[in-house]
Amino acid sequence: MKTTEITIVVHEYQSINELPEADQLLLREARRITAFAYAPYSGFHVGAAVLLGDGRIVTGNNQENSAYPSGLCAERVALFYANANYPTAEVKTIAISAAKNGILVSEPVKPCGSCRQALAETELRFETPIRILLDGQDSILLLNGVESLLPLSFSKKDL
Ligand code: THU
Repeated sequence: MKTTEITIVVHEYQSINELPEADQLLLREARRITAFAYAPYSGFHVGAAVLLGDGRIVTGNNQENSAYPSGLCAERVALFYANANYPTAEVKTIAISAAKNGILVSEPVKPCGSCRQALAETELRFETPIRILLDGQDSILLLNGVESLLPLSFSKKDL
């Protein structure tokens, strides 16, 4: 038996002002778009902003449904819109924010497993690491690739 340890690196910022300017802008877009989320069932309003290789920013938010599984998370709404409309532009960074009753959540928001899988696919598709910013009042986390969110992931390499 052999045991290996997988290490992930997480950068933690105390405030949005500590981030590089481009990241601040992206995170503010994610925050802004939380307000347009359609989340009447959970009341959890998530916003995602994606920075593409051509400098374009695409946003999305969660879209819920009375048939719960028919809804979709903010990350995948933004990511799929980006991939659908700008299929040759690599995804550089995604910023994710969440609000309850209009107030930014305390702890950094954590993407669900399906969104992590979708991010992993996009990263492989464009062969470019995706930086991930997770927003919260207490702290903002920066990960430098999907490997830090979803180690040992399933991918086309396994097929
Ligand atoms: N949600 C997201 O949009 N992204 C996340 O990272 C976590 C969860 C949504 C799905 C659902 O509409 C609501 O938040 C509650 O789970």
